[in-house]
Amino acid sequence: MQTSSINIELISKLKSANKILFFTGAGISAESGIPTFRGKDGIWNKLKPEELANFNAFLKNPDLVWEWYQYRRKIVNETNPNKGHYAIKEFENYYKEVNVVTQNVDNLHRRAGTKNIFELHGNIERNYCVDCYKNFDNVESDNSKVPHCKYCGGLIRPDVVWFGEMLPQEIFSEAEQKAKMCDICFVVGTTGIVYPAAYIPMIAKENGAFLVEINLNETEISDKMDLSLFGKSGEILPLIITKVREMKLKN
Ligand code: OAD
Repeated sequence: MQTSSINIELISKLKSANKILFFTGAGISAESGIPTFRGKDGIWNKLKPEELANFNAFLKNPDLVWEWYQYRRKIVNETNPNKGHYAIKEFENYYKEVNVVTQNVDNLHRRAGTKNIFELHGNIERNYCVDCYKNFDNVESDNSKVPHCKYCGGLIRPDVVWFGEMLPQEIFSEAEQKAKMCDICFVVGTTGIVYPAAYIPMIAKENGAFLVEINLNETEISDKMDLSLFGKSGEILPLIITKVREMKLKN
């Protein structure tokens, strides 16, 4: 069903649910000022993922790829979580278990205080050496020159998943388990077309969860939803948490 308002069915599910899962994508951070990948102003309209977001591109031109990630880090550092991120955090006050499975690398769920986060595509604030795999959270670097590992001299890369790379298997398996157990799965700000991440809401649905999409517009996975709420996540999620708060205070 598609509507722009919270309906009776959702209210009833919110009343009986114990475990909530949020599957989030770039759209949840759009209102913080971080560009999405697809759509009108999406990053992939202007830049080709195959030139910047894959390992061969990095080996071919590490400085360029590093510079691009430094630019994206700067944007992330200058932004803050928005009302959508904070509403998700507040669900923790009212439910037994709240898990956030995110495709975002921007760390904004963590900065909003969310406890259980499964980052399927890594985290832009971390780095590691491509040769010895040592982690480097803070590296001193000239923005336009890729840094080298102080232990082995290898190239240092951002700890994000690039096209053609495996997702962190342990994190994906844990996210899968959480999806199997949730009562409601909110699918927020994602086109839901990048796999295997996009299996997560489908796994939730196959295991009986009520699936609710929150997006500006219809997506390729809208027909799989039990409910689609169209609008900004920074507006819809606060409305939902307000209902939850009222409901829980009454009981
Ligand atoms: P996309 O850029 O594909 O999709 C963003 C979605 O957010 C779109 O469906 C928009 O309609 C929606 N949206 C935009 N602003 C919104 C708002 N304020 N409120 C609600 N929805 C809004 O981003 P993802 O689905 O996250 O992967 O992309 C998935 C993956 O593709 C990314 O993790 C990245 C990318 O290539 C890798 O880099 C591996």
